[in-house]
Amino acid sequence: MRILVTGGCGFIGSALVLHFVEDLGHEVLTLDALTYAANPISLAGLGDNPRHRLVEADICDAPAVRAAFAEFRPQAVMHLAAESHVDRSITDPGAFIRTNVIGTQVMLDAARGHYEGLIGPEREAFRFLHVSTDEVYGSLPPDGFFTEESRYDPRSPYSASKAASDHLARAWHETYGLPVLITNCSNNYGPRHFPEKLIPLMILNALEGKDLPVYGDGLNERDWIHVEDHARGLVAVLERGRLGQTYLLGGRSVRSNLAVVKGLCAAFDRLRPGHAPHERLITYVTDRPGHDRRYAIDPSKAEAEVGWVPTKVFEEALEETVRWYLDNEAWWRPIREGRYSGERLGLGSASAEAP
Ligand SMILES: NC(=O)c1ccc[n+]([C@@H]2O[C@H](COP(=O)([O-])OP(=O)(O)OC[C@H]3O[C@@H](n4cnc5c(N)ncnc54)[C@H](O)[C@@H]3O)[C@@H](O)[C@H]2O)c1
Repeated sequence: MRILVTGGCGFIGSALVLHFVEDLGHEVLTLDALTYAANPISLAGLGDNPRHRLVEADICDAPAVRAAFAEFRPQAVMHLAAESHVDRSITDPGAFIRTNVIGTQVMLDAARGHYEGLIGPEREAFRFLHVSTDEVYGSLPPDGFFTEESRYDPRSPYSASKAASDHLARAWHETYGLPVLITNCSNNYGPRHFPEKLIPLMILNALEGKDLPVYGDGLNERDWIHVEDHARGLVAVLERGRLGQTYLLGGRSVRSNLAVVKGLCAAFDRLRPGHAPHERLITYVTDRPGHDRRYAIDPSKAEAEVGWVPTKVFEEALEETVRWYLDNEAWWRPIREGRYSGERLGLGSASAEAP
């Protein structure tokens, strides 16, 4: 298959591209604007593989997107390109509206133009899979779980922009008959994760013996899914999902942020005992404005309909992730010393003093 992947130089996109090209033998065109969050080294393992090509383009650039469709003639689109960090959305919401909302509309329009030119089996088989987040559903009460029927209730500029993009994708299906699928996924972890997000940030801080800043009381809960489980879930939905349907993908691993950070400390105590016990590095800092308390996914629909189950065991895969960062300094060192060195982001001007 020829598959166009947007955002393929990011965290989840790169895992998906590697899975498509290396494991499944598909042909992939990665379309990526190479923002601060991209790390093209993530795809360096593909070398000169003739089944992969990277086009540097912005999804808001309609002529460039249309040209990519015309030249590559994709049989499927996996749309992952997005501004993805909640804390950055608090300080710069405009970038999120632009890429996540306008960019998604440009992608949908270009896909529609392409789809309308297809005939026969190619038209029958074409798919547009829109990748989204469980954050569109807002915050759960203790012990609650999101399902595909949950009400949209986004609370951050990031989740509001992703909610808008979900609605656009659904509208292009209903209005124009574009063969759209939508997935909403919980928090991902694993290799090649930009070190502004909780797990890789804590890993690099622990490695350097720095403070491990936990927001608020640390009891906010997230449902963690390994990025490779997510990539396999996306492929399962692409292959077997029903058109116009939403599928929630989650790892059945709900943990508080504090439990995650303590798990990382335990892994570091075993693997790099230099700064042990690492738990003494934990500090509590001002909470994120509007911090949702709990996200958790009931992935039963995806499990039943597309035959996918998450396979990674959280604590084991967390330790594997720590090992990956220890073994791949060449991946993260240039980011840490250049684009982002770990400083606090997303404290609105009036919200609180810096930690
Ligand atoms: N990371 C998670 O835990 C998570 C969970 C659920 C859903 N998602 C969704 O999955 C997708 C991928 O997330 P991620 O964590 O890999 O993100 P990421 O920030 O690691 O990567 C995003 C990629 O998109 C590219 N990009 C950004 N703006 C672009 C633009 N205007 N044009 C073209 N490319 C652009 C970046 O260069 C980068 O390579 C996003 O849509 C996100 O909302 C992420």
